[in-house]
Amino acid sequence: MKTPTLTALALGLLIAGCSQMESKPVAQLNDGQLSLPGDYRSWPKFLTAVQREDAKQVRDIYMNADAKKGSADKGFPNGSVFVMENWAVKLDADGKPVKGADGKLVKDKLAAVFVMGKNSGWGGNVPEAQRNGNWIYTAFKGNGELNGEAKYETCRGCHAPLKDKDFVFRYDEHFAAVKTAGY
Ligand code: HEC
Repeated sequence: MKTPTLTALALGLLIAGCSQMESKPVAQLNDGQLSLPGDYRSWPKFLTAVQREDAKQVRDIYMNADAKKGSADKGFPNGSVFVMENWAVKLDADGKPVKGADGKLVKDKLAAVFVMGKNSGWGGNVPEAQRNGNWIYTAFKGNGELNGEAKYETCRGCHAPLKDKDFVFRYDEHFAAVKTAGY
């Protein structure tokens, strides 16, 4: 009988076709396991020169191409990564931040680089109460080395209240800037 053979062949093709369509499995990562992408300074900007006089820092935030596909309505898709440079600013003799002619803080040294990323199943070892969706966090020193002493519960604790903004600070400010400044 020819029919079963043909059916089997058709089924085989179907299965082969389906498995080709499946996307590559995503490595399951946890806090401290994101790498620092070498080319992030060429990524789209999320916000730059965020003035944090209170923290004596200026921050520049970059987003990868997946994060760039995010929207104010839907948040950010799996595969999104943000990189934030935390720059120490120049201080005067009293330890107060100095301002340049433009009224802005003046960058001194790169103090730290923070990365956060989300993907399906990421942060699987994080207790339910500390989950921020499937975002995970990794901290690097200014020289690009992994900061082995980072306490990731503090990242989670501070970002957790931003649930309605996909755990991303300055979400509204970013999407407003996209409209006005053409980011
Ligand atoms: C005390 C609160 C606090 C803690 C702790 C904290 N963050 Fe944030 N984070 C912020 C704020 C506020 C911003 C927005 C930029 C700004 O105003 O400085 C931000 C922004 C970011 C961004 C840019 C994307 C975004 O949400 O705007 C990344 C990446 C990031 N944080 C990673 C981390 C990592 C990694 C840690 C832990 C090592 C961490 N954060 C700890 C408050 C915090």
